[in-house]
Amino acid sequence: MPLTPEQAKTICAMPKAELHVHIEGTLEPELIFRLAERNGVKLPYANVEALRDAYAFTDLQSFLDIYYAGASVLLTEDDFCDMTRAYLARAAQDNIRHTEIFFDPQTHTARGVSIETVINGIERALAEAETQHGITSRLILCFLRHLSEEDALQTLETALPYFNSHGHRLIGVGLDSSEQGHPPTKFTRVFERCRALGLRIVAHAGEEGPPAYIYEALDTLQVERVDHGVRAIEDEALLERLAREKIALTVCPLSNVRLKVFEDMGQHTLHQLLKRGLAVTINSDDPAYFGGYLNENFLATFHALDMTMDDAYTLAQNSFEASFIIDSEKQALISELAQFRAANAT
Ligand code: ADE
Ligand code: ZN
Repeated sequence: MPLTPEQAKTICAMPKAELHVHIEGTLEPELIFRLAERNGVKLPYANVEALRDAYAFTDLQSFLDIYYAGASVLLTEDDFCDMTRAYLARAAQDNIRHTEIFFDPQTHTARGVSIETVINGIERALAEAETQHGITSRLILCFLRHLSEEDALQTLETALPYFNSHGHRLIGVGLDSSEQGHPPTKFTRVFERCRALGLRIVAHAGEEGPPAYIYEALDTLQVERVDHGVRAIEDEALLERLAREKIALTVCPLSNVRLKVFEDMGQHTLHQLLKRGLAVTINSDDPAYFGGYLNENFLATFHALDMTMDDAYTLAQNSFEASFIIDSEKQALISELAQFRAANAT
């Protein structure tokens, strides 16, 4: 059954968490051009329209090439703050109550921008959003998997003063960028060190890569959540394990369609994964590039797949349960969702 306008409104108003968003992927073309001008950075695109026209992706790599070019305009603390502030204002409109944000320090340090500039700029906007919008947040540092493990180890060392330190929201590490040919086991030692430091652990796996990469993320990196993980559908034993061990998948439907993981939204396996008892969540990944923020991901999914309002509440509940906040904060958000549900029961 297609969603009624009333149901769509309820899904949009529902309190929810976002657990898979790359802050550099929230950089809208207009802001890219504004920052390029502010910083005197020359872009290989004539204007906003020409840049947007280039967003015709054929796979993950074709997207990453443009995404890294877009991030080249970020130089100062104010740039990182402005980008993060814009995302959080948009997140507030989608009734996101808590967000766990990825950032890619190596993309910036390779251009001579210090990790201090990156983290301080993002943190300033996160602190501001907590008072201005009531949105809580955490930060997750992602290692770029197309670079070496040595580079990741060095990056980790430079970030150590910021992890779990007073006033900072940086709590964990992830693994992103080009998946094929860069298996999780390439980063065994750096994740071992992260675990010894008590950091929270996630990794992109099974987006374009095979189910074997999801096994490696679980067994070798010992992830607590799998980012994407949609190719788990190809492996029955893996599905059973993910359900049994309650390992959440942070699924990004519009991203998967734009990067041709699925031909169209009607082919997306999110509903099947949910019916198999997996802790599925819906997320936006790189909303400025994939045609929608969190609510647009919810609506596109629900319009294409035969899902119910019970499913919507399950997805929102999963997003809070799979978050890395302390239990009391988690319970408060889950209660808020229960109250919303009671108030909106038909
Ligand atoms: N970096 C930003 N978005 C990504 C994605 N969808 N997969 C891998 N790396 C990414
Ligand atoms: Zn991602």
